[in-house]
Amino acid sequence: AGLAATGFAALPLVGCDTQSRVSLDQRGASNPLAIPRLQAGTIERGERVFRLSLTLGEKEFVPGTPSPTIGIDASYLGPTLEMRRGEQVRFHIDNKLAEDATVHWHGFELPATADGGPHQLVRPGERWSPSFEIRQRASLYWYHSHTHRRAGPQVYAGLAAPIYVRDEEEDRLDLPSRYGVDDIPLVVQDRVIDSSGRLVYPLNMHSRMMGVIGERIYVNGTANAVFDATAGPLRLRLLNGSNARFYTFLLEGDRPMQLIASDGGLLAAPSEVRSLTLAPGERAQVIVDLSEGRPLRLIASSPANAMGMMGGQGGGMMGGGMMGNRADRERQGRTFSILDMRPSGASTPVMLPPTLAALAAPDPSLAVRSRRFVLDMGMMGRGMSINGETMDMDVINQRVPVGQWEIWEIANASMMAHPFHIHNVQFRLLDRDGRPPRAEEAGFKDTVIVNPREQVRLLLRFEENTDPDTPYMYHCHILEHEDAGMMGQFVVMAN
Ligand code: C2O
Ligand code: CU
Ligand code: CU
Repeated sequence: AGLAATGFAALPLVGCDTQSRVSLDQRGASNPLAIPRLQAGTIERGERVFRLSLTLGEKEFVPGTPSPTIGIDASYLGPTLEMRRGEQVRFHIDNKLAEDATVHWHGFELPATADGGPHQLVRPGERWSPSFEIRQRASLYWYHSHTHRRAGPQVYAGLAAPIYVRDEEEDRLDLPSRYGVDDIPLVVQDRVIDSSGRLVYPLNMHSRMMGVIGERIYVNGTANAVFDATAGPLRLRLLNGSNARFYTFLLEGDRPMQLIASDGGLLAAPSEVRSLTLAPGERAQVIVDLSEGRPLRLIASSPANAMGMMGGQGGGMMGGGMMGNRADRERQGRTFSILDMRPSGASTPVMLPPTLAALAAPDPSLAVRSRRFVLDMGMMGRGMSINGETMDMDVINQRVPVGQWEIWEIANASMMAHPFHIHNVQFRLLDRDGRPPRAEEAGFKDTVIVNPREQVRLLLRFEENTDPDTPYMYHCHILEHEDAGMMGQFVVMAN
């Protein structure tokens, strides 16, 4: 419990012998990094309109062996949607799958009926056409399946993709922003590939509890990815799009990165980091300096995933067996080389603006009330719950007045870490057990890690919607936990 309680920062992420383990995990030939097609839609009657189809596809996770997948106008994953703050957008989403699906706009503040949660089901053969105003600050967001009890398998099969929101505040800064050239999305996902080379989604006693954890890492669907970069600064927009695996990202050789943004946009100032940790659903943006003209490697390490820690600690009352056998634990605690960046030449060193955004420290004294949420897993993963309640589509768990500041205290009563996500808001993290947020958590967030036995405090206010009949969700973003009911519903009410 001691190790768990200290959180990620105390773990030996960089000091350990990454070199030998990296080479162990590099199998197969390297491949050019797939960059999702950029789609800006079309302007029709003052709205930016996107037409998207959810379709079945096929992808060779291992060369020569196709596996069935789901894609959005693609065989796997989908296009990066680009839009600007202040615009009205409309989507026409055709479900060409043989099953119900949903498309949720993760990180957006929007009317509940446009949210794309479990209540906005799109039946096979049907079209869903939500419309809303883009109110978010420039950042990396994403869209993905939120189908009730099916988010895990659908996202895993490929129903997920990035969103770029741009705005004037950010344009003025002159950060790298040429899509696919010096500004690239990195959707990081782990997958289980069976011995015949096919993608499998193994739901068993272990993965129901810990989430599905794969032993191969794909970036935008590419294994052992190589990116031919221009000389100079490269902006990486990292999205942990995995179902359950946590990653700590670092550069080979412990080189620094300039952290510039969290989930909901730019930080107040760039912050030099040697590593950063993202749980499923979380995003961050870094600028990597390739001005020396030498190749650089991005590494993802997963020692921080709570299960490895639990396994190592004996698993308490759950017993080592329930926590997975040794092979399961080893699969968890691994270090992967995920991207080789190869610059075309040398250039002058990168200079970033000293300030990025006007972002005052969050002021907890604004809050007029607080609410408490306790995450628990029950015995053997039966009883995934929040405040003792398992997700019920017919129950509204919280009624929140619009426009009032609140403190949400999220406590984790279980023995593994959970990424807690709230719809329709960008919040600020006040503290975790009284300690200040890490650098990558200092700005606007919509998903936050809650370590075992820890309590985080969030400051938030809902500005959108007063439709008391349609709920939004808050939930654990380990998708197998979400599917098993570690989720609740809230409505935003007029005062
Ligand atoms: Cu990214 Cu409620 O989900
Ligand atoms: Cu969301
Ligand atoms: Cu969880």
